[in-house]
Amino acid sequence: MYGKGSTPAPGTSTPVVRLAAFATAMEICDPALGAHAARVGANAEVTALRLGWDGEQLEALRLGAALHDVGKVNVRAEVLAKPGRLDDRELAEIRAHPVEGLWLIAGVASLRPALPYVLFHHERWDGHGYPTRRAGSAIPVEGRVLAVADAFDAMTSGRPYRRPLTADQAATEVDRCGGTQFDPEIVQAFLAALDAGEIVSGGAAVAA
Ligand SMILES: [Fe+2]
Repeated sequence: MYGKGSTPAPGTSTPVVRLAAFATAMEICDPALGAHAARVGANAEVTALRLGWDGEQLEALRLGAALHDVGKVNVRAEVLAKPGRLDDRELAEIRAHPVEGLWLIAGVASLRPALPYVLFHHERWDGHGYPTRRAGSAIPVEGRVLAVADAFDAMTSGRPYRRPLTADQAATEVDRCGGTQFDPEIVQAFLAALDAGEIVSGGAAVAA
């Protein structure tokens, strides 16, 4: 009865099963990751709407935001949860999560639209980000949009070792980093959405 038609063979991992496995692994790895990803997705979407993105792009954005930190499932829990300063080895382990995420989803055709979000969300406009150190418009726009929403959520979320910034404080920081860390045009769209009351602030502790 298996092996014909659309019914997968026993033990076959369909895209939906894989997504469920990722979601479970991410939740175990850091219980705050799911809520963080949801807020980042919502904030990136209202920003993207102001940039004129269409339905298909927004659909990919939702998938990409949900999966952007999936590579953290391959980062040791004690490194993710470590309060305070990371040593060089721990920093390298954390900084591997975009590439780890790429390997996790690269083989699943239906998840491919998430790839630019997963791989490029820690790049910086000035070329000092990771993992590829691309700069400016050489960074896919998907990564540039998510970077702003991701950083705002990290700043406005509590950490075990520091209090969250207020939305106003985080907005000032996002504005200040336009042209260095972030694409200035995307910063303007994000701040316009914030002024219009469309941006949600962070929540409980989120790992770096
Ligand atoms: Fe990340």
